[in-house]
Amino acid sequence: MAERLVTDGLNRPDNQLEVTLRPSLFEEFTGQANVRERIEIAVEAARRRKEPLDHVLLSGPPGLGKTTIANIIARAMGANLRATSGPTIEKAGDLAGLLTNLEEGDVLFIDEIHRLQKTIEEYLYPAMEDFKLDIIIDQGPNARSVRLNLPRFTLIGATTRAGLLSGPMLTRFPMRERLDYYTAEQLQKIVQRSARLLNVELDESGAWEVARRSRGTPRISNNLLRRVRDYAEVRHDGRITKPVADAALAMLEIDEYGLDEMDKRILETLVVKFGGGPVGVNSLAVAVGEEPDTLEEVYEPYLIMEGYLHRTTQGRMATELTYRRLKLQRAGSQSPLL
Ligand SMILES: Nc1ncnc2c1ncn2[C@@H]1O[C@H](COP(=O)(O)OP(=O)(O)OP(=O)(O)O)[C@@H](O)[C@H]1O
Ligand SMILES: [Mg+2]
Repeated sequence: MAERLVTDGLNRPDNQLEVTLRPSLFEEFTGQANVRERIEIAVEAARRRKEPLDHVLLSGPPGLGKTTIANIIARAMGANLRATSGPTIEKAGDLAGLLTNLEEGDVLFIDEIHRLQKTIEEYLYPAMEDFKLDIIIDQGPNARSVRLNLPRFTLIGATTRAGLLSGPMLTRFPMRERLDYYTAEQLQKIVQRSARLLNVELDESGAWEVARRSRGTPRISNNLLRRVRDYAEVRHDGRITKPVADAALAMLEIDEYGLDEMDKRILETLVVKFGGGPVGVNSLAVAVGEEPDTLEEVYEPYLIMEGYLHRTTQGRMATELTYRRLKLQRAGSQSPLL
């Protein structure tokens, strides 16, 4: 789960139902074609050589499939997956416990790996590189370091904030893959697959409506689909068509263009407070109450991809689309709304 605070409440971590919607094979995983191909090839090659897969770092915004891919990899490798997360590993002893309990070929999944403490990171380096663990036993004058051999394992790290990882950590991952937002076409396929699994009748235009309002994120698509399904069952005959999806999403106050509260706050601040920019990322971050690097890594990529925001050398700038979609007027233009 990521640390992003999502105001629409729809990009929350997966619940029980979500587990059944999570693809467990590469063939069921839609989108991210390049990432998928590179990982599939590495998995197949490792399998043929009967070796563990190289360590993999998966980065990208919440809900795009990092945990899903980690599970798919473990399954494809026929390996056990041990899952933990950066903040859970508090002491070197916690890490030693995890590592020494691994079996040859196991996958160790560390979620939110950017939140691992520096001291723990240093224990991890020799484990990743040479499958060795140096532990200190005893204290004071008797303290000595003992080197343990570990089984060869695969570390899969996941992070929403790759920029926070140290250089030494990054370079110890032979495979580093960044997931990107999905197109509405890809999300439409994902929604259609989920509808089949949930036994919901959904037509093409209904699926499209849910897909294009999901902020490029499969987790949001699946959550919206469930809410729209409820509406379709209670207010209609259960079938999700475009008018039904439209009415349900309007009731849920889901933005026409899939923007969430924070997206809108960023764009409105940019336009209203800073006259559309250019404004430096630090000033913009302070104005919306976020860390500059969170703004840069978590929020901006979607806004840039969709054409709402330009990054220039002078700073961030709003685009025509921003004014149009938010129904704001450029400063100095006729009949300003603000
Ligand atoms: N490519 C995909 N095809 C189909 N469904 C997907 C895909 N990617 C993600 N999903 C769905 O979206 C849900 C969220 O994905 P996942 O938990 O892997 O995201 P994540 O990147 O780990 O997010 P976080 O950063 O919050 O941990 C999954 O449970 C799955 O149902
Ligand atoms: Mg995850």
